[in-house]
Amino acid sequence: YGDYNQKIDYVFKIVLIGDSAVGKSQLLARFARNEFSLDSKATIGVEFQTKTLDIDQKTVKAQIWDTAGQERYRAVTSAYYRGAVGAMLVYDMTKRQSFDHMARWLEELRGHADKNIVIMLIGNKSDLGTLRAVPVEDAEEFAQRENLFFMETSALEAINVETAFMTILTNIY
Ligand code: GTP
Ligand code: MG
Repeated sequence: YGDYNQKIDYVFKIVLIGDSAVGKSQLLARFARNEFSLDSKATIGVEFQTKTLDIDQKTVKAQIWDTAGQERYRAVTSAYYRGAVGAMLVYDMTKRQSFDHMARWLEELRGHADKNIVIMLIGNKSDLGTLRAVPVEDAEEFAQRENLFFMETSALEAINVETAFMTILTNIY
């Protein structure tokens, strides 16, 4: 009841994109509710969750949108990106193909989103380090070239998830 009539200073829309099964929905579940599921179902259409945080003495409501990586389940693209001020471009660090597709996802994002959008490249599933298929140097080089923030995360082990979202949020504000 403490935040019953809490004053919200800003609402920031953040979108998650990337191939199916890279862990977008679980990154969101971990950040918004501190939950994780191993038998996560593929997202159909669009879902979103919010989390209210204090940043520099302002109350910020992060509204995080999650859509399907699978083409046939995807929502209307322009509506998904409209008004977004932050984006997470997620690949699975054990699946090279999901990284190779980042350029295409980035192109779609840049084609639809505001030019000042804050973008974070995320290599998820860092808990599966022995199965690594994407060298950290490759991701860093891509991020540097495209002017993106970059972090490796594990939704499973709750590594860097909060830090990644907070980096986006503090760079918008
Ligand atoms: P779509 O909704 O189809 O686009 O997929 P998604 O990107 O939302 O993937 P989702 O979050 O549903 O996760 C896919 C699978 O990867 C599930 O079995 C998750 O439990 C698993 N997974 C997600 N994050 C991690 C992680 O950090 N480590 C490991 N080991 N598995 C993960
Ligand atoms: Mg999903």
